[in-house]
Amino acid sequence: MSQTLAIIKPDAVAAGKAGRILTHLEAAGFRVRSMKMTRLSAEQAGAFYAVHRERPFYTPLVTFMTSGPCIPMVLEADDAVPRLRETIGATDPAEAAPGTVRKLYAESKERNAIHASDSDENAAVEISFFFSEQDLIGA
Ligand code: CMP
Repeated sequence: MSQTLAIIKPDAVAAGKAGRILTHLEAAGFRVRSMKMTRLSAEQAGAFYAVHRERPFYTPLVTFMTSGPCIPMVLEADDAVPRLRETIGATDPAEAAPGTVRKLYAESKERNAIHASDSDENAAVEISFFFSEQDLIGA
């Protein structure tokens, strides 16, 4: 078993899609090991997406991710990172495979409903960004 980080993004939370997305993830075989609702500050969102700092979409991305509450969660499964990436689909919902979370629930490439870690290394960093050891005890 391995772990990864997902974030149900502000667009999906505001549209009342969080429950359906969580159901979708559990039905796909993920166990939720920790979860919270939080509203990111600009400093937090900027740090979380620091790898994209030079990209033209960085400032709009930070603005969007701070626009309302989001739901970070630790998900566990065999091969959790690649499996979650497959389950959520391509960044742009127009290009996402049928039945994926983004095809079903995302509005656009910018407002795309869910984030997922892209490597085991980044998953560990991103999990520790939101969750303490205490949050994960017994998980
Ligand atoms: P996410 O998986 O959270 O990681 C980076 C985010 O940047 C991505 O999802 C998109 O929501 C957002 N983004 C906005 N525009 C682009 C773009 N042109 N290419 C890639 N990601 C983009």
